[in-house]
Amino acid sequence: MKLEWKYLPAQNCYVAENLSYCKTPSNPDLQALHIYVPACYMKPDGSIDSESVHSPRPGISYTAKSVPVIFYNDIGGYSECVPAGLIDRNREFVKDGFVLVSIGARGRQSMDKDKNPSGKAPAGLVDLKAGVRWLRRHRDELPGNYDRIISVGASAGGAMSSLLGATGNDEYFLPFLEEIGAEMEERDDVYAAQCYCPITDLDHADLAYEWMFQTKAISTRSARELPIVMDDFHRGLSGSLAAAYPDYINSLCLGAELGADGRSGSFYTGLMEMVSGSLTKFLKRNPESADWLVEEINAGTDLIRWNGDQAVITDLDKYVRVFIGRMKPCPVFDGLSCETFENQEFGTKDDLREHFSTATAEIFSLLRDKSSRTAPAETDAPKALKPSADKLKTTVPEEWEISPEMEDRARHFNPLYYILASEKESNIAPHYRIRLGSKDADTSFGISYSLYLALRAAGIDADYALVWGLGHCNADYPGEFAAWADSIC
Ligand code: DHB
Repeated sequence: MKLEWKYLPAQNCYVAENLSYCKTPSNPDLQALHIYVPACYMKPDGSIDSESVHSPRPGISYTAKSVPVIFYNDIGGYSECVPAGLIDRNREFVKDGFVLVSIGARGRQSMDKDKNPSGKAPAGLVDLKAGVRWLRRHRDELPGNYDRIISVGASAGGAMSSLLGATGNDEYFLPFLEEIGAEMEERDDVYAAQCYCPITDLDHADLAYEWMFQTKAISTRSARELPIVMDDFHRGLSGSLAAAYPDYINSLCLGAELGADGRSGSFYTGLMEMVSGSLTKFLKRNPESADWLVEEINAGTDLIRWNGDQAVITDLDKYVRVFIGRMKPCPVFDGLSCETFENQEFGTKDDLREHFSTATAEIFSLLRDKSSRTAPAETDAPKALKPSADKLKTTVPEEWEISPEMEDRARHFNPLYYILASEKESNIAPHYRIRLGSKDADTSFGISYSLYLALRAAGIDADYALVWGLGHCNADYPGEFAAWADSIC
């Protein structure tokens, strides 16, 4: 393979662009990657400088063959993406002295040249796997340590990163990899996964969202759109979905329980400790202002207790009302009219948008049967509300059923399924780092927290934190990602 390296003086790095990572791509523009290499690992003629040793941070040294490879996907909203150039979200990795691979992938709206859908789940993940395989096939010709691949993504890309970490070498994906002409002799497991605000566990995400946000009837997607006000039907639906979340969480055996009221048990208190820890860290970074910052955030409520050393927040409902607000209407992910990103992601050749959540479908069938399990949880959510049977009939299509094939497909697109499997079929990355903005309302905090607890229960090194004041983004403090990458490599 002859690579053409171009020198970028502003970043003092070399780049090889648009390298195709599979032999029979359906979407060649998407199924490609760029490789950025700090100049210290290359000779001016574009060959690898394998002799010299570089020290990007005190006490840390790498060579061209030991430096970790950041495997960055720019997937957002489950959309397709071309390989990203150096942008704010990934520039830092090169500056920090890592090799950066920026990969493109098919997504929910992708069509092949014959205008057939080509990017439905799990296509995006398959592409990332094909990229990893291609890099390993060419490892001798490339700078970087391909046993130290660290996957990075945010939001849907964070979900993809969690999946790439959880599904290493799993047989389920082999036919999909064959289809695009991936390197079938190579492995696709990764060493670590950084997941920023992962929008995952999609098949239970409706339950998780209502568990967290059910006390808010107004959802505000952005400052440019009119707020949506939930009517009694949707509020009743919200309570019913929320009421099913504790059973789901407890069925996972995470080593932490969620009380039937949804506001007690070690799952709840553990998560609130994470929220509190995030504020404590923020206040300690601003010691002179801490007291009035607490007053300002409290906004006349008693949300936060602060003793000068530790902040304590125990009431999730108050936290949602005072600090975050609600972003999306109910049900959030498996939309009533198949209108969401996720419905499109789970589409098929015949139906471009499909329902996919067995858990959500189950709630509708219970509501139709008027089962007692659907009573809203004992929070300060509107208690008496139950979706009326008439409204249910007119609003939720009778034929809302999830086929066994869809259930299986959704499960294979859920990292928890692999991480909690009693007999592991996949090679799971030994290191995970999960970060979430403390104002993120795109999905429930329960989603990333249960991912973290599942990893811990499976004996995997996992680091979880919320970053105070940030929303749905690559939430992190400067320098902390690099320090983590150094520490595991
Ligand atoms: C993303 C955001 C969402 O709210 C969602 O439902 C799926 C993906 C994203 O930013 O990638």
